[in-house]
Amino acid sequence: MSQGQTLPPGFFADTEIADGGDHLRLHLNENPYGPPPGAIDAVHDESTHHLNRYPDADCRQLRETLAAYFGVTPDMVAVGNGTDELVLVTSLTFLREPGTSVVTTATTFPGYMMSAASVGRAPVTVPLDGVGLPVEELAERIGAGADLTFLCNPLNPTGALLDRASVTRLLDAAESGGGVVVFDEAYIDFAGPTHEFALEAVRAGRRALVMRTFSKAWGLASVRMGVVIGPADLIARVSATAGALPFNVNRHAQRAVLQALEQPEYLDRVRTENARVRELLCKSLDVLGLTYAPSASNFVMVDVPPPGDSARFAARLAADHRIFVRALDALGMPGRLRISVGTEAEVERLATALGAMLDGPGTL
Ligand SMILES: Cc1ncc(COP(=O)(O)O)c(C=O)c1O
Repeated sequence: MSQGQTLPPGFFADTEIADGGDHLRLHLNENPYGPPPGAIDAVHDESTHHLNRYPDADCRQLRETLAAYFGVTPDMVAVGNGTDELVLVTSLTFLREPGTSVVTTATTFPGYMMSAASVGRAPVTVPLDGVGLPVEELAERIGAGADLTFLCNPLNPTGALLDRASVTRLLDAAESGGGVVVFDEAYIDFAGPTHEFALEAVRAGRRALVMRTFSKAWGLASVRMGVVIGPADLIARVSATAGALPFNVNRHAQRAVLQALEQPEYLDRVRTENARVRELLCKSLDVLGLTYAPSASNFVMVDVPPPGDSARFAARLAADHRIFVRALDALGMPGRLRISVGTEAEVERLATALGAMLDGPGTL
């Protein structure tokens, strides 16, 4: 995606693909194991008893529980209708003044670009360093006073992860430049708690915003729940903007997430199983002779074999095998696919389909 562009028409059309049938959804990095135990009952209970009632606009109990879970105070937590909404609200908050600047990487989650565009800004985009975040160049731009910077860690779509030294370098730059740096950690639960350097830093009083979602490892994409954690003064500014949407986090989402947070071991199980199946996926790709980037997440970025037309390859996989994967042309990585890890059975089905495509007649 180049500066200021939005996604091509129909980009999210395949979100509608029915769950039932025999389609395989490996294009949205969803959790294939379903929500944590009890979450469905909690949502059902809300529907049965409170569908006519507004939710708690302040999300008080939820923010207190999230604060305890993340090891911060409730005034350091804001919630939104998915991280998508928080990215937009953050852009509205910190890019309001004329002439404010926003930085992100050339290849990343498109929501940053779209949110910036909706407040009239075209991000400066820094090319990746191979498949990783270009830490030095980003730090220079942040240190030079970028007002808002969006960093995706682990990086969608490559799966690369920042180490402690890189996070510290970026935080130092943010504090000297005076702008706001957002670490979007939508996928960090798959990497595990030993990689939570940005959250650790915020807990220790450093100035950054950390975003988390319940859509990925927590298996609650449908209810829409995103979280932003940061210094109380920055969170107060984000919350003031979000005040225009007082009931943005619905009752079902609040109840489901409270239920989920009672079971942190669920996340451990998902992380372990995802890592195991990701390894199986990578082994299958090795056997097929396909190259890919090492991933800390629940997706793997795969190179399409020559002629490297990823959009065509993805379209054939969908048409011939009913398997949906993300062609990365629109995310700035033509010739590559992003494939969600899925379950072991899903990996087997995918490997069989890829094998048939690679062996079969016709242009890839
Ligand atoms: C990096 C990243 N950030 C944010 C989101 C949005 O997540 P949510 O479902 O919380 O809006 C996604 C969704 O795929 C994502 O990949």
